[in-house]
Amino acid sequence: MIIGVIKEQNKGEKRVVISPEIAKKLCDNGFEVIVEKDAGIQASFDNNDYTAAGARIEARGVVFKEAQLLLKINPFDKEDLKLVDKGHILISQLFHRSNTELIAAIAHKGASAFSMDAMPRISRAQDMDVLSSQNNLAGYKAVIRGAYEMSKIFPLMMTAAGTITPSRVLIYGVGVAGLQAIATAKRLGAIVEATDIRLETKEQAESLGAKFISVDNTGEATAEGGYAGVASDDYAKRQQEAVNHSLFKADLVITTAMVPGRKSPVLITKEQVSKMKNGAVIIDLAAAQGGNCELSKMEQTIVENGVKIIGTTIAPESVSTNASDLYAKNMLNFILHLTDAAAMKWDIEEEITHETLIIHKGHIRHNGQKTN
Ligand code: NAI
Repeated sequence: MIIGVIKEQNKGEKRVVISPEIAKKLCDNGFEVIVEKDAGIQASFDNNDYTAAGARIEARGVVFKEAQLLLKINPFDKEDLKLVDKGHILISQLFHRSNTELIAAIAHKGASAFSMDAMPRISRAQDMDVLSSQNNLAGYKAVIRGAYEMSKIFPLMMTAAGTITPSRVLIYGVGVAGLQAIATAKRLGAIVEATDIRLETKEQAESLGAKFISVDNTGEATAEGGYAGVASDDYAKRQQEAVNHSLFKADLVITTAMVPGRKSPVLITKEQVSKMKNGAVIIDLAAAQGGNCELSKMEQTIVENGVKIIGTTIAPESVSTNASDLYAKNMLNFILHLTDAAAMKWDIEEEITHETLIIHKGHIRHNGQKTN
């Protein structure tokens, strides 16, 4: 089977779906790999690195023409679809619940498509989970961005001129990004506190050295497949009461709370911001889904009452080499899962295949509805 690595076209995207190291592993497993020219350049992978790994570098049109399995990170778009045809199997993130037009267009072509963001949250799928591998880096990067934006340092510092007290960092949402944010802020010497709606996160946050802020009814929103559900208004009120003391003392706040397929919950209101410390920074990683802070605006820095509110996704493309490395490892595991002796093994009843196969030979299997 020939695998085609497509160069990402999205503005600002620097990652590549397959690294030279993984291209070599695919070749060792009996696949032929064709890489679109310059696909890895912005992730520090040269065309020569791919050829040394046993892959072939070709122009875009050739990759689409010759490969059966086409790989991308971002959803295949209209331009890509002009080159897609019936026999193609596409693997990318598709966000199929909100991209119904795209799903219909791929199906119309008669192609098949797997979506990496539909990976079920089960133990044996962990090494194929791109949301995890990429969010982990986002959590790290959020703290680094926060440190850059703050006018204070993180650690306790005793100097001849006096003592600098450590910064206080508050993390909302102890998922993959939140846990890495805790670990990073801790390593830099901050005092870290965290809160989450899922009860099981208390132990995880504490094991990394954060103080967990429990809300009376933490755990009320039943987690579905490892995800949080929607919090009630009562929970939101109690959460504010429990967290306010820490929020008003925080130097850096990182919010990562998301509910899949829905607008992010507002966890910090304008009124709460008005009581925060002058000079505090909020990095809102949920901004693309509406934001956890009422004042957040995507890709903007708003200053309110001396508090800097930065709405971002801190997309992992800002650490494109590591992000591509991890993404490629997820892809290798997924491809090996779907194939046998370098040929597809369409085991549609198997859970990972069942959940991620959105379109099978032109037939839409998951059409924006939750299937589990
Ligand atoms: P996420 O990105 O969906 O959400 C981030 C965090 O925000 C979650 O911990 C969530 O509980 C929290 N949150 C949502 N609403 C909230 C609210 N109103 N107040 C406070 N917190 C709120 O979550 P993420 O990072 O993707 O991970 C969720 C869980 O799934 C983790 O335990 C993770 O380890 C697990 N997971 C398991 C995988 C597997 O087994 N294959 C793969 C990926 C994640």
